[in-house]
Amino acid sequence: MKFAVALLVLASIAAGETGREAWLRYRSLPGRFPGVVVKLGDAPEIGAAQREISRAIFAFSGKLPGGIDSLASDSLVLGTTEEVKRLMPGIVLPELRTDGFLLQQIDREGQPLMLITSPTSRGVLYGAFAWIRRVMESGPVPSVMEVSNPAMPIRWVNQWDNLDGTIERGYAGRSIFFENNSVVADLTRAGEYARLLASVGIKGCTVNNVNANPRVLASDFLPQIARIADAFRPWGVRLSLSADFASPKTIGGLDTFDPLDARVIAWWKAKADEIYKLIPDFAGFVLKADSEGRVGPSTYGRTHAQAANLLANALQPHGGILIYRGFVYDHHADWRNLKNDRARAAYDNFQPLDGQFSQNSVIQVKHGPIDFQAREPVSPLIGALKNTNQTLELQITQEYTGQQRHLCYLAPMWKQVLDFDLCVSDGRTPVKELVAGKTFRRPLGGLVGVANVGQDTNWLGHDLAMANLYAFGRLAWDPDLSARKIAEEWASLTFGKDQRVVSTISGLLMDSWPTYEGYTGPLGLGTLTDILRGHYGPGIESAERNGWGQWIRADHDGIGMDRTVATGTGYIGQYPVAVARRYESINECPDELLLFMHHLPYTHLLHSGKTIIQHVYDSHYAAAEEARRFPLRWRALDGLIDPERFAAVMKRLEYQGGHAIVWRDAICGWFLRESGIPDTQGRAGHFPGRTEAEAMDLTGYAIKDVTPWEDASGGKAVACEATPRCNASFVFHGAAGRYDIAVQYFDVNSGDARFTLSVGQQVLQTWIADDHLPTKAPNGDSSTRQTVHGVKLRPNDVIRVEGSPDGGDSAAIDYVEVKESHD
Ligand code: GCU
Repeated sequence: MKFAVALLVLASIAAGETGREAWLRYRSLPGRFPGVVVKLGDAPEIGAAQREISRAIFAFSGKLPGGIDSLASDSLVLGTTEEVKRLMPGIVLPELRTDGFLLQQIDREGQPLMLITSPTSRGVLYGAFAWIRRVMESGPVPSVMEVSNPAMPIRWVNQWDNLDGTIERGYAGRSIFFENNSVVADLTRAGEYARLLASVGIKGCTVNNVNANPRVLASDFLPQIARIADAFRPWGVRLSLSADFASPKTIGGLDTFDPLDARVIAWWKAKADEIYKLIPDFAGFVLKADSEGRVGPSTYGRTHAQAANLLANALQPHGGILIYRGFVYDHHADWRNLKNDRARAAYDNFQPLDGQFSQNSVIQVKHGPIDFQAREPVSPLIGALKNTNQTLELQITQEYTGQQRHLCYLAPMWKQVLDFDLCVSDGRTPVKELVAGKTFRRPLGGLVGVANVGQDTNWLGHDLAMANLYAFGRLAWDPDLSARKIAEEWASLTFGKDQRVVSTISGLLMDSWPTYEGYTGPLGLGTLTDILRGHYGPGIESAERNGWGQWIRADHDGIGMDRTVATGTGYIGQYPVAVARRYESINECPDELLLFMHHLPYTHLLHSGKTIIQHVYDSHYAAAEEARRFPLRWRALDGLIDPERFAAVMKRLEYQGGHAIVWRDAICGWFLRESGIPDTQGRAGHFPGRTEAEAMDLTGYAIKDVTPWEDASGGKAVACEATPRCNASFVFHGAAGRYDIAVQYFDVNSGDARFTLSVGQQVLQTWIADDHLPTKAPNGDSSTRQTVHGVKLRPNDVIRVEGSPDGGDSAAIDYVEVKESHD
């Protein structure tokens, strides 16, 4: 064991920084560390705890602690409370809840010992990770005494992995579990992932997409799934599966999947028995039914409760649970009917069934009533389930929040959700207590995060996005932690404890969600991304005039969904009175949700004293400027952190700065055209220093319309389709000086076009558009900025962009912007 641990640590240090270690980045530390790590009992989690502490101590001190069973004076002891009491009969231990742990320096017959104990072996492992975290933050602290209990029993992640190896809404490479309709041969990453999850107290992982392939439950496939469970087991992570409700028919050979049919009931029972033979600690099923084209109980006129209980009853004898997704709505809703409202759906579907779900069923409710937008109110269903278990679903993968290309630390958003008082009964009833099952004394409850890590070495693509996975686990354990404290803790563990490093990174993290919201959808309108395609760049009207129900109801006079009880869809009436009263009133409704709740003219005055339209202009210019400054702030870390992650994050932040301008211009341009009301500051629609590609001297390039129009400056681009090389040039008429030249081009994913930017005969930069943005078309998903800083220009210089197409990439250009250099 010793040798293996040492090799592991040395290998990770020698390989250079890749982000693979995430926040478990153990490096040399001053101080004296336990010389012996003793484990009591044979539970796999306690074995893992012993190996983990040994690995950490070796990395901290260069010395491998002994792993003997006898106690020495500098021992660290790992064991369940039962084992500890057996070894030390008179010992008095505090009350601990399931998986809760105690870290304490004790004195045993004159020998000081570090004790890590819990009623469960999983909790001992959590204690081990907590001890390591403390040492990394404060050095070895012998006087430490910590009692920590999880706030909620369910702390799971969902992975939306498909059996073919793709990941739905995954932005960090292919699946670590599946490839080519099989489980991958090498499950090293699966084990490493479970270790990361365990280190922040997560104890369940659903490995396949909620849009489940029925094959996952086939008898010849389950032994493969069991291998993943084996990889998870030492880390106390229980595996769960998303099930397809029609499985008894699709893979079971029955002619029905009616939840009340005796054969169907028997099929699910036999299936659960079969799974538990292979995976004795199987956590249970997740079920998405009657949603977005998935079949469900409505096929037979049955209720969600009947469907949930069918699977729950099969799992019950084995201690498994059934998690039923509350994300049920009609995606063919009639948009012409002003009373229709997707936001009502979760409550309308599930509130009437409250009390009909079995004790081991849980409803998993997305935190907002729509779908993980940059801002949403809390789902009213959360306050309405009084006799039903629930979990809160959060999204770690940044589907609508920049897909890990944009920095968007979500803990501040999650904290607002968790701390929101739904005023369900007398006294405070914050979401964190409702979902934990505390308010209505439910046996089950908790947090589930849609994580979607992938094969990218650093798990989520963007090194800083891992703060979201970390924060999710920490909040599921303790929702009272502050987002800033978590950010600081994560930054220090991941990048080192230099104060400049911690404050720069946590500062960026904390500013990132308000910034992202600032340049995307304002005032609760939703992200305003293209909801019909990639969910990434701007696509404002994609929300309108279709059945998906993410309507914003914009016209020339006003914008926003009227969800009031008085004149609108009545959605607001789903909240308890105190909350409903606030939202119903235009004066009391908070600005950030105003257009979620009300339809208002662009000239309506906000609490800030600005009109809606001026707020849109101001917030977008301010946020895009903030995003432009992100890479400048990151620059402060040059030399203070490793060059690999410094460069990787810098690249993403620079990209984000450019894409924030795409967002700013799309939103401001669209609002300007729709409202006809100019920006009092004269910015929207005016672009000093910008030359549209369509206005340049073109050789080979042809002018094209871009769809949607707001995604390109002037609604047009130029594309090189007929010749192997095209040129777009213009004459610079400004004063002599130093300038930054930005080329806005389209980096589509169907080829790798090449660009060259020159001034006169001098080539300034050549680059290849080989990113994998989510589109084949020149639009807001692919629009990308390349900037060359500090270029000396004189009047009449000719600035030229040469584009060489490749495959389906036509080297399209939107514009070139020349601005005086400042930074
Ligand atoms: C979103 C997402 C889908 C996903 C769904 C769900 O709509 O875009 O990909 O399947 O949520 O949560 O079930």
